[in-house]
Amino acid sequence: MNLELFREQMYRDGSVVIPGLLSDELVDKLKVKLREAIEKEAAYHNGTDYVDYGMVMMCCLYDQIFTELFEMDELMQYFNAILGEGCIVYAYTSSSMPPNASNFSNRVHVDCPRIIPNYITNMGAVLLLDDFTEANGATWYLPGSQEQWEMDPDYFFNHAERLVEKAGSVWFFNARTWHSGGQNYTDAWRHGMTINMCRPWMKQRIDIPKSMARAGKDIGQISDKAKQKLGFFAQVPENYEEYYVPREQRKYRQKVE
Ligand SMILES: [Fe+2]
Repeated sequence: MNLELFREQMYRDGSVVIPGLLSDELVDKLKVKLREAIEKEAAYHNGTDYVDYGMVMMCCLYDQIFTELFEMDELMQYFNAILGEGCIVYAYTSSSMPPNASNFSNRVHVDCPRIIPNYITNMGAVLLLDDFTEANGATWYLPGSQEQWEMDPDYFFNHAERLVEKAGSVWFFNARTWHSGGQNYTDAWRHGMTINMCRPWMKQRIDIPKSMARAGKDIGQISDKAKQKLGFFAQVPENYEEYYVPREQRKYRQKVE
């Protein structure tokens, strides 16, 4: 989609679907690696009896396919068009729904608490890894609701649209757009991932550079392009020593927007 049109629609509706953005091959690979990550995350929680079961909290802690996504201009261009090229990840989770269940998204909510008129601080993208249907929990969302402070659930469900789209589609949304996960009534998992990007002067939900380093991830194999999006160049120096290094080595060294 033309980026001017994308911007126009995002500012008006707070919501844009781009069908077929991800290839079938990429969708299959992401799904395989996501299933593995869901198992590892359940092992961390000693089982499946926790509220976020099925939701990987930080996808970039797992396979490198999850960091390589940030090298994909076809995907990043939409975030850059709204938040600027310096935007970074705020949160990077999966949005999978287990069979005959739902997840924590199943409530009428927004993903960002503040409203700054005509200025978007966070934008989400749901990457559909399975077809989203009414039966397997397709997300509900209300176009144009991004500047409403409160939402009556009855009004919401009477007026909301549903994200009934094919695997490989991506739903971009202003994090202020009111939405709700559905309920998966089928016997199969419904997989998806959500990238939430923010402005580089904001804090991430979990400190990604530090978490990845402490988890022993091989940071050296991540490209600078992906590192920038993961927040590696928007960190706060911890002391004088880190501050008084050459400019190109500083922890916050990316373009300020
Ligand atoms: Fe949400």
